[in-house]
Amino acid sequence: MKIFKPEKMVIFANWKIYMRSRSEVKNYVSVLKDELKYFKSEVLEIHIMTDFLSFDYVNSCLSETQIKTGVQDLFWEDSGSYAGEVSPLMLKDLGCDSAYIGHSERKTYFGENDEDINKKVLACLRNGIKHFMFIGETMQELEAGQTEAVLKRQLVKGLENVSGEMLENTVIIYEPRWAIGQKNSASANTISSMHVLTRKLLSEIYSGEKANRIPVLYGGSVNLDNIREIISIKEVDGIGASRAALNPHDFVKLVRITEEEAVRRNRVGKV
Ligand code: PGA
Repeated sequence: MKIFKPEKMVIFANWKIYMRSRSEVKNYVSVLKDELKYFKSEVLEIHIMTDFLSFDYVNSCLSETQIKTGVQDLFWEDSGSYAGEVSPLMLKDLGCDSAYIGHSERKTYFGENDEDINKKVLACLRNGIKHFMFIGETMQELEAGQTEAVLKRQLVKGLENVSGEMLENTVIIYEPRWAIGQKNSASANTISSMHVLTRKLLSEIYSGEKANRIPVLYGGSVNLDNIREIISIKEVDGIGASRAALNPHDFVKLVRITEEEAVRRNRVGKV
């Protein structure tokens, strides 16, 4: 039986709110423009997930490159009386390529739940914005043996009303919440088995072929020392990195390593 794989690997830099000034942003973007000037790939997508304030600037600076620009959240309504929110329609108008949804810190500090995440996912898809939906368990859930139930709930609820036909702009990122901001990522064994589990859960929601085409990334303390091992796990279709991607030269190195793996997979062929 032919198993369909995602067409492309994906890597994203997660700025959170670490870029404290326009001059830091300018420096970051100019390094990327310089070092990835000739980057053209059929097998890897690069996204920079900026804060809202930097988005428009970064997006226009990178418009001549293949690097995509996204944001770290958005609201679920396109317009209306929702003080302080940023709408997907406005972002789309500015040329936003992507948004990540349901990051652990949104859940912890802003009480974001599965229903909110689902509404934001649908808002992205309605506006043609690619979304990276986070799934992952806390340490407490891990220790209580609830990981599978948690991932299942997050996928089922987060993707409610997302039909198989709408999946083209869907990316899942498995990021164990206990592995964020640590010295070490989850172990290779854990990452591999959690990705196998995620695929299995996806195939319970969608038909096998559609489920297999959804890229499933890993996030949580990825760095220059561990990325090769993580990216060579065959179930891992890409990476989300925050601290290790804050230095633009380091991010370019992460990109190069991921690109090598993407090219290798493409050469080996889709099995
Ligand atoms: P980290 O953060 O790469 O610094 O561990 C990852 C994340 O919060 O998504």
